[in-house]
Amino acid sequence: MILKARNLIKTYPKVKVLSDISLSVALGDTIAICGRSGEGKTTLLHILGGLEEPDKGEIEIGGHRLTRSNCPHIRNTQIGFIFQAYNLLEDFTALENVLMPAKIARKATTRQKGLDLLSLVGLEDRADFPAKLLSGGERQRVAIARALCNDPNLILADEPTGNLDRANAKKIGELLISLKKSLILVTHDPDLSALCQKQYVLKEGNLLL
Ligand SMILES: Nc1ncnc2c1ncn2[C@@H]1O[C@H](COP(=O)(O)OP(=O)(O)OP(=O)(O)O)[C@@H](O)[C@H]1O
Ligand SMILES: [Mg+2]
Repeated sequence: MILKARNLIKTYPKVKVLSDISLSVALGDTIAICGRSGEGKTTLLHILGGLEEPDKGEIEIGGHRLTRSNCPHIRNTQIGFIFQAYNLLEDFTALENVLMPAKIARKATTRQKGLDLLSLVGLEDRADFPAKLLSGGERQRVAIARALCNDPNLILADEPTGNLDRANAKKIGELLISLKKSLILVTHDPDLSALCQKQYVLKEGNLLL
């Protein structure tokens, strides 16, 4: 299993977001999670990826139980995160954004690797544009290329096609599936969800198959 989550509980003041969630993901599994706005999909994805701590429950990534001390390293080496709001560094170029995870992990990398990733998402001609000049869809694609920078085994994607037109959404969806990596995908798009092996709904704090 690349990911095992057991009995996750998360409450914010006034809202119980996750009631008791367990989920296992094998290497190569592709999983879609949908659910109404505010049901906790982003929260769940952040917790699975070690970006936020649950109140209770535990998470194993690649056989290692996430702890406060190993979490940054595991996140950096095993997980590629595609955020709902992209989280690009606005004054950095597309290429610099794509290579940032390698820099943070102090991993040797090359400009060529960044260009290859940008070309995978159809943006090689925007390599030297600062992120702030890119369109929404272009930002989203840079964020996807960045998620692949450290060759993660697991990709967590939060509405990765939410800001793309149909044709680009289809392309990006197929690209994510074709990577042959484990994938947990939050999406409202039934076509994208149908590309995954399993479909879950997050509802009232529970994950239903
Ligand atoms: N840090 C926080 N403090 C308090 N409440 C929060 C916090 N983060 C999220 N929430 C609340 O938790 C609930 C779940 O939020 P979340 O962003 O996970 O929903 P979502 O399913 O991703 O929604 P959407 O489809 O709109 O992206 C919401 O009601 C939100 O207001
Ligand atoms: Mg969300």
